[in-house]
Amino acid sequence: MYSLAKPLMFQCDPEHVHELTIKGLAKTQHNALAALYRRPQIINPVEVMGLTFDNPVGLAAGLDKNGDCIDAFAAMGFGFIEIGTVTPKAQEGNEKPRLFRIKQADAIINRMGFNNHGIDYLIENVKRARYSGVLGINIGKNKDTPIEHGKDDYIICMEKAYAHAGYITVNISSPNTPGLRSLQYGEALDDLLGSLKEKQAELALIHNKQVPLLVKIAPDLSMAEIEQVADSLVRFNIDGVIATNTTLDRELVFDLPHAHEAGGLSGRPVQSKSTWVIQELSRRLNGHLPIIGVGGIDSLTAGREKMAAGASLVQIYSGFIYQGPKLIQQLARHL
Ligand SMILES: Cc1cc2nc3c(=O)[nH]c(=O)nc-3n(C[C@H](O)[C@H](O)[C@H](O)COP(=O)(O)O)c2cc1C
Repeated sequence: MYSLAKPLMFQCDPEHVHELTIKGLAKTQHNALAALYRRPQIINPVEVMGLTFDNPVGLAAGLDKNGDCIDAFAAMGFGFIEIGTVTPKAQEGNEKPRLFRIKQADAIINRMGFNNHGIDYLIENVKRARYSGVLGINIGKNKDTPIEHGKDDYIICMEKAYAHAGYITVNISSPNTPGLRSLQYGEALDDLLGSLKEKQAELALIHNKQVPLLVKIAPDLSMAEIEQVADSLVRFNIDGVIATNTTLDRELVFDLPHAHEAGGLSGRPVQSKSTWVIQELSRRLNGHLPIIGVGGIDSLTAGREKMAAGASLVQIYSGFIYQGPKLIQQLARHL
C-alpha cells in the first residue's frame, strides 16, 4: 500500500503530507482502520539498560513529536518508539517552509526547530496510549530559554516525563535550536550531565523506578570531541547514547536540489558519517554504555553495519519515509 501511496505523497509539500499522515494515524489507531497498517509484531527481544525491547528497531525522534500516534507506530511493528523532541512550553518552530526532500539521495533536510505542543500535551497522549513496549521521551529546551538556563528546561521535562517514560533522551544535538549543540562540549556538558544525573537519582526514589537517561549526539563531532563526550558519559554514569542526529555537512549532496537549505541533513548521506561516530564511540566507551545507532538506515545491510559498528539497537526516520513500513519488518526480523 505504501508503494502505491508514495508517488502521490511525494508530489505534495512534505510538511503537509507529514501533518495529514499524523492526523490520519492518530484518528485511526484505535479503530478498525488500523488494520490497514497493522503488521505482525516481530518478537526478537533485546535486553539493554535493564529494559526488554521486543525487537531492536525503533522509531527515531522527531516523527511523532507530540506522541499523537504511539499506538499506530506500535501496530506497524516497531520494537520501541521515541517521541519528542518536546520542550516545557509549546512552540511554533521555525518559519515554513522548513522541510525538504532530496529524492535523488533518499535524504531530507529539516529546520523544524522543535515545533511541539509542550510536555503537558505529550504526557496526556502518553497516558491515553495502550502501547506497553519501551517508550522513549526525547526532551529539549525552548528556543526563548537562554542557553545558560537550558538545563532548567531539561529538568522541567524530566520531572514531568519520568513516571511515564521507558527511557529519557537528552537532545543536545539538534542543529536547529541556536546554541544547543554547544552543550555537547567541555564544562557545559559536564554541568548538564551532573545536574541531570542528580535529578534522575531523586526521581528514582520518588517513583521507585530507574528510568535510563540517554544523550543524543551529532554526527559532526571530530575524533577528539567524540572521545571527550564518551569520557563525560562514562564519568557521569549516563545509561546510553544515541548516535546520531542530522548533519550540517552537505558534501554528499552539494549539487542536488535543496542542498543549500539550512538545517540538518538525514537519510543516506548521513549513513557512513553516523556509522563512523558509532565506531569511534564504541571503541572509546569499551562497553561501558550501550549505543542506539541511527542515521541513514535504509536496508538490512545498513542496519547490520550499525550493529557491527557497536550499536545494540537501531532507529529509523528517513529510511522509513523513503521505504515505508516494510523496512521495520525487514530489520526487526533479521537484525
Ligand atoms: C523532519 C525531521 C525531524 C527531526 N526531529 C528530531 C527531533 O525533534 N529530535 C531529535 O532528537 N531528532 C530529530 N530528528 C533526527 C532523527 O531522529 C535522526 O536522528 C536523524 O534523522 C538520522 O536518522 P535518519 O537518517 O534515519 O533520518 C529529525 C529528523 C527529521 C528528518
